[in-house]
Amino acid sequence: MYKIVVAKELAPKIKWFEVYAPQVAEKAQTGQFLMVVTHEKSERIPLTIAGYDREKGTVAFAFNEVGRTTKELGLLKEGDYIWNITGPLGNPSEIKYFGKVLCVAAGVMIAPMRLQIEALRNAGNTIVAVIGARIKKLLFFKEEIKSLSHRFYTATDDGSEGYKGLDFLRELVASEKFDRCIVMGPVATLKKVSEITKPYRIPTIVTLMPPMVDGMGMCGVCRVTVGGEMKFGCVDGPEFDGHLVDYDELIKRQRMLLPEERLGSVLWEIGGCKCGGRKA
Ligand SMILES: Cc1cc2nc3c(=O)[nH]c(=O)nc-3n(C[C@H](O)[C@H](O)[C@H](O)COP(=O)(O)OP(=O)(O)OC[C@H]3O[C@@H](n4cnc5c(N)ncnc54)[C@H](O)[C@@H]3O)c2cc1C
Ligand code: FES
Repeated sequence: MYKIVVAKELAPKIKWFEVYAPQVAEKAQTGQFLMVVTHEKSERIPLTIAGYDREKGTVAFAFNEVGRTTKELGLLKEGDYIWNITGPLGNPSEIKYFGKVLCVAAGVMIAPMRLQIEALRNAGNTIVAVIGARIKKLLFFKEEIKSLSHRFYTATDDGSEGYKGLDFLRELVASEKFDRCIVMGPVATLKKVSEITKPYRIPTIVTLMPPMVDGMGMCGVCRVTVGGEMKFGCVDGPEFDGHLVDYDELIKRQRMLLPEERLGSVLWEIGGCKCGGRKA
């Protein structure tokens, strides 16, 4: 059982948990993820490491309450316990001096991007950060990311804050040289930014979030096609070359699960939560 030592809301339906898990914290690195099991009967879900403190023995993640499991997780409070956390899983991000790095994050993935920006900044890179969300009130970590970056932009789908959408990036990458681009967020964002950077040959690294079951390379559920080859999102990734990913195939695979997920979420909401926030 893993105690939640900090629980806060970053934005509507986006929560941040810091959990006491010293063995995980000891090895955690930016880019890796955890498999989280809320209670003994819930599904294992992958969540990206968004922070860690080796001295305190804590690891942090942010999650969007989108379906049954993340909504159940969101019911837990500070002092409650999570049934199981496995990790760190997946490969860490490559952190070294690249030069000028464009970091683009959307939605809940703004949280792990903050950790990656901090690491890239400490490695001496010049950081140009862009954070985006559907609407203004879903933007978070603005001050934190601004203070870690050399230049900082915001964007929203409806234009309620910053640029309207990510099209402004076309002009940005056309007018200055970037040595690397890091993208985290929904597949549509990964695809769009990769299309924008490709003509300028800016090495672009995307974090893929295919459906996962074990997160350890055994089930094959997380298959993605990268550069015409089949890869496992969990053990070969989760970061890949954004210019080589078959995004349309990934979108199709995510959509295949939609009807079942929606049904599960609705049934759970009608029936209420059976687990309760557990305290050990
Ligand atoms: C390596 C990896 C890292 C991840 N990191 C994070 C993270 O840091 N924070 C976070 O909130 N989520 C993250 N996710 C996605 C997260 O695992 C899913 O949102 C979660 O499993 C949904 O479970 P659920 O039962 O609540 O919802 P479900 O009922 O499974 O799904 C509800 C809705 O969310 C959509 N959805 C489910 N899984 C994904 C996915 N992988 N990508 C996009 N949409 C999805 C479904 O299509 C559906 O519309 C990550 C996924 C992977 C593979
Ligand atoms: S999640 Fe099972 S192989 Fe990747």
